Amino acid sequence: MKKLLIALVALVPTLGFAAGGHNVHLEKANIDLNDKESLVRGLDLFQHYCSGCHSTQYQRYERVATDLGVSIDEMRSKYVLTGAKVGELMENAIPEKDAAKWFGAAPPDLTLVARVRGEDWVYSYLKGFYKDPSRPFGVNNTVFPSVGMPHVLEGLQGIATPVIETEVVDGKEVTKVKGVNPAVGGSMNAEEYDQAARDITGFLVYSAEPVKLEREALGVWVLGFLFIFFIVAFLLKKEYWKDVH
Ligand code: HEC
Repeated sequence: MKKLLIALVALVPTLGFAAGGHNVHLEKANIDLNDKESLVRGLDLFQHYCSGCHSTQYQRYERVATDLGVSIDEMRSKYVLTGAKVGELMENAIPEKDAAKWFGAAPPDLTLVARVRGEDWVYSYLKGFYKDPSRPFGVNNTVFPSVGMPHVLEGLQGIATPVIETEVVDGKEVTKVKGVNPAVGGSMNAEEYDQAARDITGFLVYSAEPVKLEREALGVWVLGFLFIFFIVAFLLKKEYWKDVH
């Protein structure tokens, strides 16, 4: 509980930012939580490209395995990279203090990020890295200006150049980054990278609200029940009114 409170307090400044008026257009993530294969690919990408720095420490490996339909053995052999037990929390590999020194900011826990920032923000963030030699890692981000995170998916996406627009505000010229050009030099094409970004975002949306999966599955049953109930009620009505007419 204490940890959760600390995490919530830590998220407060980011809330302000999320609501703040950056005028970059967010792309729709179009997550489908029923697409378990996408969620498992998201888990795979997250564990291999993100979990070194970021934890999802309000989740246990075991629960994720059960929810996503991954066997415990598979979870252990493919996705637990820290030597943790499957019953343990999904913690990150690097110590927070070192990370803060290396990146200027500690990589935050991402269990709840999709709820705090919104899924479209997370998706746009993963697609928003662009070349900026003035930054320590040579990259910046359209939705997170002056970001402290390197573009860890550069090998997959490649690197994009920014689309810059100049506006005149109060007689002064101001330049703004409006988006990015198509990335070049990655192992994936644009469509494949979009899907990878969607898979990771989907995994984080699931992570922020695991009960959503159950709720959506339950929804199908409820609709099915209502449908059958409707037929029964309809037949009953016909039966009752048969003699009246
Ligand atoms: C090398 C370490 C490192 C890796 C690997 C890494 N990140 Fe980050 N990430 C950071 C740091 C540091 C920040 C904080 C940036 C800041 O505050 O300027 C961050 C911030 C973020 C944020 C913004 C959180 C918020 O609300 O402020 C998201 C989302 C994120 N990372 C997602 C990812 C995903 C998804 C991956 C894997 C594809 C990943 N990161 C891999 C270091 C890393």
